[in-house]
Amino acid sequence: MRFLSKLLFIFTIMLFAGMASSSSFAKTVKVGVVLPMTGPIASFGQSAWKGVKIARSLEPTVLNGRKLKLILLDNKGDKVETANAVSRLIFDNKVSAVIGAVASGNTMSGAPIAEKAHVAMLTPASTNPLVTKGMKYISRVCFIDPFQGKVAAEYVYNNLHAKTAAVVVDMAQDYSVGLARFFMKTYRKLGGKIVARTFMQTGDVDFSAQIAVIKSHHPDVIYMPTYYQSLALFARQARQFGLKQTIMAGDGASEEALIKVGGKAVNGLTFTNHFDPKATATPLGKKFVKLYKTKYHEDPSAMAALGADAYFVMADAINRAGSTNRKKINTAVRATKDFKGVTGIITLVNGDPVKSAVIQKVENGKFVYVTTINP
Ligand code: PHE
Repeated sequence: MRFLSKLLFIFTIMLFAGMASSSSFAKTVKVGVVLPMTGPIASFGQSAWKGVKIARSLEPTVLNGRKLKLILLDNKGDKVETANAVSRLIFDNKVSAVIGAVASGNTMSGAPIAEKAHVAMLTPASTNPLVTKGMKYISRVCFIDPFQGKVAAEYVYNNLHAKTAAVVVDMAQDYSVGLARFFMKTYRKLGGKIVARTFMQTGDVDFSAQIAVIKSHHPDVIYMPTYYQSLALFARQARQFGLKQTIMAGDGASEEALIKVGGKAVNGLTFTNHFDPKATATPLGKKFVKLYKTKYHEDPSAMAALGADAYFVMADAINRAGSTNRKKINTAVRATKDFKGVTGIITLVNGDPVKSAVIQKVENGKFVYVTTINP
């Protein structure tokens, strides 16, 4: 009896000690998130955030039970706002790592701050190659634009049999300038001819000048790698002025808002993308799509899926780092290998993954899956 009660006493002490250490362990791990929640590309931010939240509901803790706390800042789709948000998160909120931003130009403006502070910055969606070039702390979970542009050019030339193209470039977006260039490079190599190149800026609402230029050159196809809002407005006006060509776009087209704003004018619009909810290849992807639909009563967009992958990859990296040390987390992010994400299998080399692209198009007011193209 004496022995038993002594044993019980020791056991109780051990239990309390365990609780004490686990409660000191229960400190949260802070990760900053920078997204365009308002402004001209707000749909991207809203979708990415929904994706991140679904991912967190599936994996709320890291490092054996510590809550992963997300601090979200709105960059309004703006470069200066992004730089400010990244430095606030790093220096005021003292986050262990950052997820964001979306538009390549935005991410490129915040990246030097994270780089200098030795904090991992993981973008869900910025595809311009310069985002990670020469950087040790900037990584992404999406493919890059030399690939995306090539896929678009091959599809247009080989499948749409378009031998001439007009290109509309959004000068305000590094994404658009880069992707247009990569498209043209492959298209010309294939034998295609760029018959017109015209320019615009995010926020423009009148495209009559660009449309006049395009009309006078009779291209077989129009390639316009811009974001959904500009695309939708352009398509409406182009159809009104009698342009009938297929509009080919990039991942920037991939939000429901394109169809809401563009209406009938965007029927036939075809674009390269990261993910199709009906063609998910991984178990995590299937689980994510199901949960997302239950919660939001809609299909997740590519942006939502990429947001989820940024969260999952970050959580996985923190676990592998085994600590909240910023440098260790970055090393772990960059060492991500064979991670079976929502949008595909992610292995990072110098911060970039190599992944498949899908081609989608708008048909009768809905996004439909066309094909998958492997790198
Ligand atoms: N790739 C775009 C950019 O770099 C962002 C984007 C990704 C938009 C995925 C939609 C879907 O700016």
